Amino acid sequence: MVSQCRHPTLRALPDQNLTSSRATGLLAGAPPTGAPWRPPAGNPGDPQFWRPVDSAYEQVLQEERARYPWLLLQTMATGVPRRALYSALGARAGWRVLDAGTGFAPVAVEMAGAFGCQVVGVDYDRDQLERAAATTHALRAVGWLQTHSAGSATNAATVSFAAALVGGLPFGEGTFDAVVARFLLQHVADPSGAIAELVRVTKPGGVVCIIDVDDGLCLSHPGPPEAVRRLEDAYQQAQQERGGDRMIGRKVPEMLDAAGVAVGHVLVLPQAAYGRTSPTDWSQRLLHLRLSTFAEEIVERGLLDEATVNEALRQLATEEMPATTVVDMHLAVIGHRRP
Ligand SMILES: C[S@@+](CC[C@H](N)C(=O)[O-])C[C@H]1O[C@@H](n2cnc3c(N)ncnc32)[C@H](O)[C@@H]1O
Repeated sequence: MVSQCRHPTLRALPDQNLTSSRATGLLAGAPPTGAPWRPPAGNPGDPQFWRPVDSAYEQVLQEERARYPWLLLQTMATGVPRRALYSALGARAGWRVLDAGTGFAPVAVEMAGAFGCQVVGVDYDRDQLERAAATTHALRAVGWLQTHSAGSATNAATVSFAAALVGGLPFGEGTFDAVVARFLLQHVADPSGAIAELVRVTKPGGVVCIIDVDDGLCLSHPGPPEAVRRLEDAYQQAQQERGGDRMIGRKVPEMLDAAGVAVGHVLVLPQAAYGRTSPTDWSQRLLHLRLSTFAEEIVERGLLDEATVNEALRQLATEEMPATTVVDMHLAVIGHRRP
């Protein structure tokens, strides 16, 4: 399971990586460079096409600029199903796109760099936005956004960021050609309100795409040792107590329908594996990082005693996990705002 994230508090925005534009109130992560946007060479179906993005994330990880390294690892680990979606959206150069709950901005930088979209990434966590901007700087350094983000005002590929709650977006009615929210709604206490806001800022006829988890679609057999399993359960319980919903995936189509979206596709994005993992494997590292991040909260909420939490984290940090079949599916719901 790779799609959780914490609810950090808002903090003041450091200015070294982000510059504020008075005209738009946006934070520029990758300003235009002057040359018209051209599609990158290669085929988005070829993993090599995305190499610059992967390199940028590796660089950010190595430089330890990530406040949430587990979210960065998750961003890196879920590239294949994420990238498989863009063709279903019909992304086009010059589209104005909102990436709500942008995190490390994978959707934003990929839709801008590969398809020439003008993407605004929104997140309520200013520290996370600083990390997202660092990613766009790293991508300029490896030539992804610098080479391909630029051009006339009407045909530029850009990435900008804005700090906002999804329930109160600082954009007018019908601003965007497409709105994407990936792994956001599972954390939001009022998902219907959030969806209403996402639909409001989408143009009539524009694309709305919500990607999220549904734990009913996930299984593992025989699964991890008892202490690790109990810590994972406690983690999920903590998310629910915070107002989140790990079964949100199945509810999204009817919520979109009720909010004025004609639902076109409900896609399953599967990932599956079988094998042992060791403490140095990315999946075990990711699980250890994520559960460590929330360990204190889990104990404070009384969901698990400290000894069990510590034992589970010790096992993940030092021991090989038994060979297990893991199936982890996300749902992507794509529709158009009704006129
Ligand atoms: C699991 S991360 C997903 C990041 C990214 N969309 C991706 O696909 O990798 C969820 C993000 O949503 C942000 N977030 C959570 N609740 C939010 C809210 N109510 N308004 C805006 N952002 C929110 C978090 O700060 C976090 O960066």
